[in-house]
Amino acid sequence: MPTLCEGDTLRPKNACRVCVVEVTGSRTLVPACSRRAEAGMEVRTDTGRTRHSRKVVLEPLASSVGLSTTPKAAGRLKEYEAEPGRFGPDAARVDEEPRVDNDPCVRDHGRCVLCYKCVDACGEQWQNAFAVSVAGRGFGARIAVEHDAPLTDSACVYCGNCIEVCPTGALSFKPEFDMRAAGTRDESAQTGTTTVCAYCGVGRSLTLHVQDNEIVKVTSPHDNPVTRGNLCIKGRFGYQHVQNRD
Ligand code: SF4
Ligand code: SF4
Ligand code: FES
Repeated sequence: MPTLCEGDTLRPKNACRVCVVEVTGSRTLVPACSRRAEAGMEVRTDTGRTRHSRKVVLEPLASSVGLSTTPKAAGRLKEYEAEPGRFGPDAARVDEEPRVDNDPCVRDHGRCVLCYKCVDACGEQWQNAFAVSVAGRGFGARIAVEHDAPLTDSACVYCGNCIEVCPTGALSFKPEFDMRAAGTRDESAQTGTTTVCAYCGVGRSLTLHVQDNEIVKVTSPHDNPVTRGNLCIKGRFGYQHVQNRD
């Protein structure tokens, strides 16, 4: 199923409606990510109705924000024959400069599809920092910290767990953002080495993503039953002692 807001380490949010399917006996389309299968349920995943629904969900998204860093977005737009250009050249867009107000994390509203995954990861599902939420309504809705402050003046503890779950690249690790801006990021040239975090006794698994002998980012395997892809600031960003050995 095509999905946007469903994540392998988060409970379904049921926000994007890209995954809708037809269920016999149900008046409305139902989201596949969050509707439990039941005995005898008859589900159709690819019908004229589901395809049309996915098309009209994808079109306004692709028309209003950049999806170039959303994996598979181009394929889905093509598959569902979405035409984001049909709203015309004057269609409203979220044209905002990326916010680079701290060293580890970059926030780019111009790529955000408001899937709420970062809100859930920062809030009650993982970090319990509750630093980010949705502010504003309609086209003015943005993922923001309290009073729309810089991240440095918020409750953020720089765990990077919101970046880990963001499906679009709206949130990114600063070194990766810089490489993308410079045109030097090449995922095919990156290696991933999984090791153990040396900072504390929890012993979390770290995966070091390296390109040209530089650490681009640090992630953690999502299938780890203890940490489920999450890290703290030290494991996520405290790798300078490895990187800068001169
Ligand atoms: S880095 Fe961690 S604390 Fe900060 S906004 Fe993201 S999830 Fe919340
Ligand atoms: S910043 Fe990323 S995770 Fe958060 S709502 Fe936007 S697209 Fe989703
Ligand atoms: S993936 Fe099911 S509603 Fe978003």
